[in-house]
Amino acid sequence: MLTFALPTGRVMEDCIEIIEGAGLPAARLKNAGRNLVVDDGNFRYLLTKPSDVPAMVHYGAADLALAGSDVIEESGIALSELLDTGRGRCFMAIAGPDGAAEKFSGHASRLMGMRVATKYPRIAERTFAAWGVQIKILKLNGSVELAPALKLSDCIFDIVQTGGTLRANGLRVIRRTAPVSLRLVAGCGALQMRWSSMFGAIETIESYIAKGNAANENRGKPRDQRDKNLSAA
Ligand code: PRP
Repeated sequence: MLTFALPTGRVMEDCIEIIEGAGLPAARLKNAGRNLVVDDGNFRYLLTKPSDVPAMVHYGAADLALAGSDVIEESGIALSELLDTGRGRCFMAIAGPDGAAEKFSGHASRLMGMRVATKYPRIAERTFAAWGVQIKILKLNGSVELAPALKLSDCIFDIVQTGGTLRANGLRVIRRTAPVSLRLVAGCGALQMRWSSMFGAIETIESYIAKGNAANENRGKPRDQRDKNLSAA
């Protein structure tokens, strides 16, 4: 049996699309309800909070996982990244009210001591440190957009997908810092010990994603060029 850790919440739909599209069993996953462990065929799916997915793989509870590049980086856990699925795309950004945005238009020294609310303290600290700026971090576990309105922080460092949450809370993107997407990852130990049982699933996911990428590239191209791309995938 192969154990796959999957993040609950906003990217779950993308994960199911990948699993199903790749031809791995997905029927029970789609009807998981409140179950956190779903067995289907030769697969066990662990449904876990996104930020805990890297640990599930690292400690050997799961062989493989789909995890956002944001949570992988924030975890500081060294995982073997097998594939960028291109799904769950969003970006990391500094966001805030107009007053904070104005500070970012000047010299970096104006940002010194800024209070930044975030679910990603490591990445936030590193991002500002790269500009030579020390900040005060307010670590929150969600609803980060509340912090500037409550005067708990000057700005936030968070992921942005549609921008809807920012707009609804009177904030705007000040600076995009990094793209984010779902990655297929494995623990280094699992790769060494269980490669032969993992290989098939990895290959089938890779091939499904490659086909989707080729189909996207083909949009708007003449038919003869389209077929070449698809057969290469
Ligand atoms: C994420 C993120 C933002 C929001 C951005 O939170 O932290 O709050 O989504 O998405 P948008 O740009 O489409 O509005 P999530 O919904 O995962 O919930 P959380 O705040 O409880 O972590």
